[in-house]
Order: sequence, then C-alpha cells, then structure tokens
Amino acid sequence: SLIPVVLSGGSGTRLWPLSREKYPKQLLPLIGEDSLLQTTVRRMKGFPGIKVDAPLIVCNEEYRFIIAEQLRLMEIKGSILLEPAGRNTAPALTLAAMAAVREGDDPILLVMPADHVIMDITSFQSAVQQGVPLAAEGAVITFGITPDSAETGYGYIQAGEPMGDNGVCRIARFVEKPDVATAQRYVDSGSYFWNSGLFMMRASVWLSAIGTCRRDILAACRVAWDHGSVDGDFLRVNKEEFTRCPSDSIDYAVMEHITADNNSLPTGVLIPLSAGWSDVGAWDSLWDVLPKDQQGNVLQGDVLLHECRNTLVLSEHRLVACVGLEDMVVVETPDAILVAHMSETQHVKKVVDSLKSQG
Ligand code: GDD
Ligand code: MG
Repeated sequence: SLIPVVLSGGSGTRLWPLSREKYPKQLLPLIGEDSLLQTTVRRMKGFPGIKVDAPLIVCNEEYRFIIAEQLRLMEIKGSILLEPAGRNTAPALTLAAMAAVREGDDPILLVMPADHVIMDITSFQSAVQQGVPLAAEGAVITFGITPDSAETGYGYIQAGEPMGDNGVCRIARFVEKPDVATAQRYVDSGSYFWNSGLFMMRASVWLSAIGTCRRDILAACRVAWDHGSVDGDFLRVNKEEFTRCPSDSIDYAVMEHITADNNSLPTGVLIPLSAGWSDVGAWDSLWDVLPKDQQGNVLQGDVLLHECRNTLVLSEHRLVACVGLEDMVVVETPDAILVAHMSETQHVKKVVDSLKSQG
C-alpha cells in the first residue's frame, strides 16, 4: 500500500503578510477555500488502481490543532506526527518511516511538501502510478520539473540512463541548490530537471539510506521514536531526544549521494512531472498558477481594478481599489498591507526579517 506523507514545516516568510508564524502558508486558504495542506491531502483521493492508506502529516506540535481541524473538515482520518522542534526534512521523513513500519509492514511512502500547487491531478497521479512498481522494487523515486530559469532555491537532477516510457530514467546526479552560474549551465545543458520536492520510496529503503548516509540522524530519531507515545491520532516523539537530533534535509543528507555508480545506496529514479507544479515560494509564483482575468490580474476579496495588468490583488477585509497598476502585488490584511513589484517579491522576506529584528 501507499502512505501519503505530508511534510508541513516552514513558515513561508516570503508570503507575508498573509503567511505568519502563527499561521504558516500551507495552512492558509491561499487558493480557493482549501489550504495548501488540504489540497495536498485531497490530491490523493480517487487514485486509480492503488490502495492509498490514511495520510501521515508531519508537523511542529504547535500546529496540531489547526491541522487536526483541517483534516476533520474534509472528513479525512489521518495521523499527525508531532515534532517538538524543526530538524528539517531528513529527520521528519525518518520519523515518518518509523511510524509506517511499526506494525511490521513496509509500505511505500509518497513524500509531499505541504506548500506546493499541482494543477493537473491526472498527470500527477499517473506519474506516481508509474513510480509505484519501481519503488516497490527498492528504488528512490524523484519527480523532475523541466526548468525554465536558473532558480537557485531548487535541487537539480541530471537525467541518466533511460528506463522506460515517458522519459523515466536513472538519476545520474543530484545537486541541491547550486549557485546561479552552475544552475544556468544545468538549464542550458538540457539534461537537468528541477527537483519537485516529491519523493517516493519504501519506508525500509529510506531507513537504510539514511542509516548509510547519516547514522547519527537515524540513531537520534530511533531513540526519540522509541521513547515517544501514541495519543489518539497524534504520534509524539521524545522531546529531549529529538531536540538532540542533527538538522539536515532529505536532499543534502541522502539525495546528493545517490549517483549512477554508488552501489551502497538505492537506485535513484527520475520521473518527469508535467502537472502545473509550483512551489508557491513567493507571490510571483502564486500569481503564475492562479486563474487570471483577461488582463492577467489575479483578484481575491473586495477588489476593484481599473486599467491594471498582471497584478495580484488580495483583500482580506477592506475594499482595495487599484488604478493603472502593472506587474504589482497588493495584499491587504487587518494589520498590514504589502505593496510590491512582481519581480521583487522574492525579497519580501527581508521586510519580515527586519520586522523580527525590531521585535
Ligand atoms: N515536518 C517538517 N519538519 N517539515 C519540514 C521541515 C521540518 O523540520 N522543514 C521543512 N519542511 C517542509 C516544508 O514545509 C516544505 O513543505 C518541505 O518540507 C520542503 O522544505 P523547504 O524548506 O521548503 O525546502 P526547499 O524549498 O528549500 O527545497 C526543497 O524543495 C524544492 C522544491 O520546492 C528541496 O527538496 C529542493 O531540492 C526542491 O527543489
Ligand atoms: Mg520550499
């Protein structure tokens, strides 16, 4: 069977003022009525031909009630694994794998970030379906996006030996967050994909890979898990022990070591994904994926536009009127308003940083 594992860490400071520490972006209804977390869980419904088990959400314990409530509203029963502190994605997945094997099974985990948009569910589901038999045989599956810029916030996967239809191939090499010159070379070469951040592998395959690459992380998670407890739908780990766990990402800890000729790690497989993927890191990437009017404007809430083009205007509780704007983002909330140029929205986190340092 297949267990959806949803990673819900991070607070998404580039989507300020909507995304806040108390309410991180994946828990907000950014698009339509559902939060990104709810959309992520819903994406697993009605999967043809595969038995999909209840999802496992891994999150900071601070968000347990919001997340439990969001699942309840969708009438979805899932487990919520609570981290007493953020230790990045490698420990988060290690705990999820321990939870998944606890009844003696060895299910396939479909690891999904909670803060992504995937517009085309059918293509997404068929890419996952292609990966299932390969994951069952012990491979680590990644889903690659054709890059359109030298984005440095992503992992890059070099396509290796072909393995079948639809561009499925071995991973030749995985490079996490290269510098911009290297990223540009990769994009120009045409043989690299962006890492979507979705992964799929058997629980035991991850546990053995993390044990090979980062014995310290595996050991720390093991103790934290063994001294944890089950509290209804909440799975708790031992706070002191987990706090001692080193911090690292799936990408740096394991994926960068998976190469075509490393036989001590599982085979890495790349499945191209063309499903309207966006990691909604900042307002500009959110604008990219949202439905627009004929002038390219994305509007939400009480908004009035005149002669505007390619804007994103969002109002939470006041009327917002814009005249003659082009390539602008305006986000109104009860206590803060953002006005930014679309091409500069990556820098919104600098505002948040300076707000934080002012206390
Ligand atoms: N539970 C939990 N605990 N989740 C976490 C933690 C943690 O400590 N840290 C991060 N996450 C969640 C985030 O909420 C997000 O959904 C996902 O894990 C990925 O973490 P990010 O911090 O957003 O990673 P990134 O964007 O820098 O890079 C990853 O995603 C890119 C695509 O968006 C990498 O996998 C890149 O290779 C990839 O290109
Ligand atoms: Mg991210």
